[in-house]
Amino acid sequence: MIGASPAGSADRAEAARAVREMFTSIAPRYDLLNHVLSCNIDRLWWRRTAKMFADVLARPDACVLDLCCGTGDMTSALLRQAGKAPVRILGADFSHAMLQRASIKSAATPLRWTEADALNLPFGDQQFDLLTAAFGFRNLADYDAGLREILRVLRPGGEFGILDFGEPGGLIGKAYRVYFKRVLPAIGTMISGVKGPYAYLPASVERFPAPEEMLDRMRRAGFREASWTPYTFGIAGLYRGRR
Ligand SMILES: C[S@@+](CC[C@H](N)C(=O)[O-])C[C@H]1O[C@@H](n2cnc3c(N)ncnc32)[C@H](O)[C@@H]1O
Repeated sequence: MIGASPAGSADRAEAARAVREMFTSIAPRYDLLNHVLSCNIDRLWWRRTAKMFADVLARPDACVLDLCCGTGDMTSALLRQAGKAPVRILGADFSHAMLQRASIKSAATPLRWTEADALNLPFGDQQFDLLTAAFGFRNLADYDAGLREILRVLRPGGEFGILDFGEPGGLIGKAYRVYFKRVLPAIGTMISGVKGPYAYLPASVERFPAPEEMLDRMRRAGFREASWTPYTFGIAGLYRGRR
């Protein structure tokens, strides 16, 4: 089994609990930190990801799930991309505090939110035309189980996109690693006032499978057309697949 494993967690249940507590603890400052630490590039990545699924989002009555939605910025990018198309978009996360913020931010929109664990979704089989997960999948305690659950709730032909951090190579990679491993945890800890999460972030990215391995896992889980598109020198990237 391979998945997120925050320091001190001995099994899948403990890892999931530690992840939920961590995100709940930083929820009040999460948006601010995201934008500061990424110099607002996060907005670009969400928008670019939503654009990649323009075809599904333009379909009347498409049903979309944004998994690990946090405070809902990826979810809102999907809604903006859909424009006037009458899509149904639902955001799901297992941190109540994150969802509360998502709900406040989106009060004037048709977005809907639900508290749910990505490894045990409260949906029947084959419900969604599109499923996205931005910077959340890496935090699952079991990646293969996460992929199986995504596959289960997608309709045949349905698409999914996992946007997450990568590890860029070359000189840019070297400079970025100094920022990501030293500067980012220091600023994150200072602004959030919480010590663990911003040291966990680079550790979790290091632990996450490299693109080739992740694509293999997607294919083995049963996805077709598995691909990875690097964003911003590979600092982030989008995994795509189709059921
Ligand atoms: C880094 S945040 C990303 C939030 C948002 N998607 C974004 O792009 O800003 C990761 C989110 O994944 C959620 N998460 C992690 N593991 C989860 C799980 N097993 N089930 C549901 N949500 C989970 C956390 O609660 C957190 O809100």
